[in-house]
Amino acid sequence: MPRDEMNSLIQKIARQARLTFRGAGSSGSGGDGKGFADNVTQLRKLVSEIRAEDLKIRPRKSAQAPVSVPHNPPVTYMHICETDGFSMGVFLLKGGSSIPLHDHPGMHGMLKVLYGKVRISGFDKMEPQPPGNSGAVLRAVLRSTGEYSDSSPPCLLSPHRDNLHQISAVDGPAAFLDILAPPYDPEDGRDCHYYKLLPPTTPAPTTASSEQSGDVAAEASGVNPREVWLLEIPQPDDFWCGGEPYPGPKVSV
Ligand SMILES: [Fe+2]
Repeated sequence: MPRDEMNSLIQKIARQARLTFRGAGSSGSGGDGKGFADNVTQLRKLVSEIRAEDLKIRPRKSAQAPVSVPHNPPVTYMHICETDGFSMGVFLLKGGSSIPLHDHPGMHGMLKVLYGKVRISGFDKMEPQPPGNSGAVLRAVLRSTGEYSDSSPPCLLSPHRDNLHQISAVDGPAAFLDILAPPYDPEDGRDCHYYKLLPPTTPAPTTASSEQSGDVAAEASGVNPREVWLLEIPQPDDFWCGGEPYPGPKVSV
């Protein structure tokens, strides 16, 4: 590997992610202890420095997502690298598009906006689930909602905090670097599930105007406490993810 690629920031991030999440796969016990916390802090520091130009990614000036046009995905993924411990790539969102509410079972995640702005609404699955819960619905709490741009710090999720989220592009197209640890693996109990918010049993007055907005945070905001029922749904028809080659410096892990 040429020296400049060996020393690239994304290569350093990959090295630190490998160190942080070593053994995070099915056979390991990654995610515990002070050493882990220190490594996450170090990884977060490196990730906070990454910019779109470091990955040779240019902001796209696309208009609204042409979701009615087949083969023109609202969201595109650029795969960078993957080990047993983590996966890393870039998501590009067209203007007006969203990655619907979904989970990351037993996983950690770190997300850094490269260009544009995204709104992220994070939910915690309640533990334990209410007695008698059938499994098709999930009791959850709206944990956080916020907007992130390229000047924002990385956004984190963990197995028990902000593990479910919806990500929406705000005011035009957006892109973010995404690290997941361990990677999704349906054969190891880490499949991606999609959810929709069920209306509260007793609707609060403030929810009426946001019922149709599609914004899960707005829909949950009138509920007090912010406990919600989430219904597992198939992948929504208006969401799918295309693939494109990653154009940035080569990464080896
Ligand atoms: Fe996600």
